[in-house]
Amino acid sequence: MDDLRAALSLHPSKLPFLRRVMRVLVASGIFAQVEEEEGDDGAGGYYRLTPVSSLLVTTGDRAGRSLLSMVLVQLSPLCVMPATSMAEWLKTGKEETAFEMTHGAGMWRICSHAPEFGQLFNNAMATDSRFIMDMAIHRAGQVFDKITSLVDVAGGTGGAARVVATAFPHIKCTVLDLPHVMDSIPADHGDVVQFVAGDMMDFIPKADALLLKFVLHDWSDEDCIKILKRCKEAIPSRDAGGKIIIIDVVVGSSSQAMCQGTQQLFDLIISVLTPGKERDEEEWCSIFKEAGFTKYKISPVLGFRSIIEVFP
Ligand SMILES: C[S@@+](CC[C@H](N)C(=O)[O-])C[C@H]1O[C@@H](n2cnc3c(N)ncnc32)[C@H](O)[C@@H]1O
Repeated sequence: MDDLRAALSLHPSKLPFLRRVMRVLVASGIFAQVEEEEGDDGAGGYYRLTPVSSLLVTTGDRAGRSLLSMVLVQLSPLCVMPATSMAEWLKTGKEETAFEMTHGAGMWRICSHAPEFGQLFNNAMATDSRFIMDMAIHRAGQVFDKITSLVDVAGGTGGAARVVATAFPHIKCTVLDLPHVMDSIPADHGDVVQFVAGDMMDFIPKADALLLKFVLHDWSDEDCIKILKRCKEAIPSRDAGGKIIIIDVVVGSSSQAMCQGTQQLFDLIISVLTPGKERDEEEWCSIFKEAGFTKYKISPVLGFRSIIEVFP
C-alpha cells in the first residue's frame, strides 16, 4: 500500500482513503488482494493485477496492447458532462444529442477543435483497433480471404488497417477519414497503409472490401443507410468478391451476462455522445435491406462485438 501511495504521489494523510478505494476496486474485480506477507509493516497489504487491470498497463510487454486511453476518453470531462445533463436532455424535443446540447457541437467537430481531446480519442480508437483486429484475424481470418484491396472507412489514424496490412501484406489497405484526423498522422514513408482525407457521406474510394469498425453505431438509421449506399457504390458485385466488413455490437449476440451488460451499457453511452445506437440483428437486417444489400453473416467472435459480413 505504501508503494502504491508513493507511486501515486499521495499525501500520507490520504492513506486511509486509498485503502477505501482499493477495497472497492478489489470488490469490483479490478485488483485482487494478496494475503498479507510476513514482514508487512501493516500498511495495508498487497494487491495484484487481475485480467481486467492487466488490459490497462502501459509499460513492459503490455505497452502496445493497453486499453487505458479507451477508459480515459470515456471518463474525460467532455464525455462525462453530457451524461450529467441527461435529465434536462430528456425533457427537450430538440433533435440534438446530449453531447451537442452540452458542448454546442457534435463529437467530430469537437475532436477537430479541441486537439488534445481529438488526439486522446484517436489514440483510444487506435489502441482498441489493434486489440480487436488481432482477435478478429486470429478467430475469423477467413473473412479477409480473396481480398486484394480494402478501404477502412472512417478508419481513424489507421490502427485497424495496419493490423490487416501487416497480417496480409498482399492486401492494399487505405484509410479514409476526415481531414483533421489525417492532419494529425505523422508522415511515415514506410507506412504499410495509405491515407485519404474525405467525407464518407460524399465519396468512398473503390476496393474489393470496405471495413467499418465501430462506425455505424455512431449514426442514425437514416445516415447508416446513406453510408451503406455509398459503400455499395465502391465495391464490386458479390460474384466478383465485393463485401462490407462491419465490426460493431449486435445486441443479444452473446449468451454471456457480462457481454450483454456491456452491450446495453455501450448503447446508453453511445446515445449520450452521438445520434447512434447499438442494434440487434433485426435492426441491422432492416438497414442492410434498405441500403440494397441482399445477404449478411454475423460472427459473434469478438466478445461483446461481432463481425458482420454484408454482401451486395
Ligand atoms: C468511433 S471512431 C472509429 C474509428 C475507427 N474505425 C476505429 O474503430 O478505430 C469514428 C471515426 O469516424 C470518423 N468520421 C466521422 N464522420 C466522418 C465522415 N463524415 N467521413 C469520414 N470519417 C468520419 C471520425 O473522425 C472517427 O475517426
